Amino acid sequence: MSVIRLGDVAPNFIAQTSLGEINFHEWLGDSWGILFSHPADYTPVCTTELGTVAKYKAEFEKRNVKTIALSVDGVPSHQGWIKDINETQNTSVDFPIIADEDKKVSNLYDMIHPNADNNLTVRSVFIIDPDKKVKLIIVYPASTGRNFDELVRVIDSLQLTAYHKVATPANWKKGEDCVISPAVSNEQIPDLFPKGHKEVKPYLRMTPQPNL
Ligand code: BEZ
Repeated sequence: MSVIRLGDVAPNFIAQTSLGEINFHEWLGDSWGILFSHPADYTPVCTTELGTVAKYKAEFEKRNVKTIALSVDGVPSHQGWIKDINETQNTSVDFPIIADEDKKVSNLYDMIHPNADNNLTVRSVFIIDPDKKVKLIIVYPASTGRNFDELVRVIDSLQLTAYHKVATPANWKKGEDCVISPAVSNEQIPDLFPKGHKEVKPYLRMTPQPNL
């Protein structure tokens, strides 16, 4: 088990997947990535999650994000289950699912939480930027399916704040006003934020989303 923290380089690995062997870093290439684990194949919540990810393909592609799932089941199991997902969720899963039978990747990414379940992965999410740095980690229990609208929203925030000196406030959605980074002085604001700004408090300065 290794501890992975925000800003760390996402550990590389070679793994078998439903789409053949991959070298994780090579597979990511210049894209952003979402690596997400699920407890087991042929389980109900996971079936809805993977179907949802397949349906969000266009949203992820627009944002230059590749998705890759993982469970501790093998390739034949993944391939059989993908047929069920496609049938029941009315979609086409065309992203890889890692077959982590020896738990190599699960342990590398600390996806098994023994006090939750000794053998199965929890629902971990790692968002990785094009420099292979870990930008976000979220962990859900097996009983709670993930909200993929939230993951798309978070990617919008991560991609915005990577290139502009802003942060995004609570419940922010694409198109809404942003917080000017505390590191930006008032003198710098007109150059950096020509759309204008509003000073609510000296430490709370809002500006329209700069990249729209
Ligand atoms: C599910 O995906 O439905 C699930 C998996 C493990 C435990 C509980 C639910």
